[in-house]
Amino acid sequence: MVERAGRVEGKVAIVTGAGSTPGPGIGTGKATAAVLAEEGARVLLVDLHPERAEETRAMIAEAGGKAEVFTADVTRAADCEAMVRAAVEAFGTVDILVNNIGLASLGTVVDTTEEAWDRTFDINLRTAFLACKYAVPVMAEKGAGSIVNVASISALRGDGTVAYSAAKGGLVAMTVDMAYAHGRQGVRVNAVAPGHITTPMVMSVSQPGPRAEFMNTMRAEAGLLGTPGDGWDVAWAAAFLASEQARWITGHTLPVESGVLSVTPLMMAPHLRGVPEPGE
Ligand SMILES: NC(=O)c1ccc[n+]([C@@H]2O[C@H](COP(=O)([O-])OP(=O)(O)OC[C@H]3O[C@@H](n4cnc5c(N)ncnc54)[C@H](O)[C@@H]3O)[C@@H](O)[C@H]2O)c1
Repeated sequence: MVERAGRVEGKVAIVTGAGSTPGPGIGTGKATAAVLAEEGARVLLVDLHPERAEETRAMIAEAGGKAEVFTADVTRAADCEAMVRAAVEAFGTVDILVNNIGLASLGTVVDTTEEAWDRTFDINLRTAFLACKYAVPVMAEKGAGSIVNVASISALRGDGTVAYSAAKGGLVAMTVDMAYAHGRQGVRVNAVAPGHITTPMVMSVSQPGPRAEFMNTMRAEAGLLGTPGDGWDVAWAAAFLASEQARWITGHTLPVESGVLSVTPLMMAPHLRGVPEPGE
């Protein structure tokens, strides 16, 4: 049994996308659900793929935590309404909502299709909108709640993913607007912006080869710390924002990115590529 710090003791959390793409490592939703459970929350594990959420539930149960699986397509309003109802029925209320569902899509404005644009917005933004639509009234009624949106540094820096960047940018803007609208109802709304972390989803879309190897190296090397990040790094930040320790923080987006946003790429380039100084 893991010893619990109890930062969210007695709270009820919904985590959307609480499963993880199959493969080695851990996704951000699965890790966040595990950390919240370890810290004392009862967690509703929401995923389109119940077998993925079931893996998360088993992991939490093994550590002595409490969680239940709820199968839903969070792009659908009826599913979101049912999801919130299920949390209330199973655990009595909703204190914490982590909007974690998302999927990147590559492409510029020129080569992104309308279908890809709409799908990317549905997965990354509509899911959070609909989950909040039904969770906020429950929180507002009791005058307390904490929402954490999982955005991306793609919302803040260009990387050739125009639809994804715009959708995550929308999520950051929604975070601010919701913090404004619901602060006096006791509802805090924040976001985390992960950098280039290693998750099973990321690994599953890269074909083995020199490009994948380069990207794996850069995921660690591009940041100030020079070390790779993973789903746990995002989970620890999300759990902090969800907890009472962040009771005076709302409307903010916390980058979790090894300082990538503080790097001048030109200054990192020679060091990363082993370019010698004259005389070396
Ligand atoms: N991996 C990265 O490098 C990275 C970087 C920045 C941001 N992020 C963000 O982190 C989040 C999670 O990424 P991950 O790599 O852990 O992904 P993941 O694919 O492992 O996990 C996401 C889960 O969401 C579920 N899901 C997808 N659509 C759904 C829907 N409509 N309804 C219900 N469940 C649905 C999937 O089944 C999956 O289990 C995303 O928001 C992503 O944009 C990831």
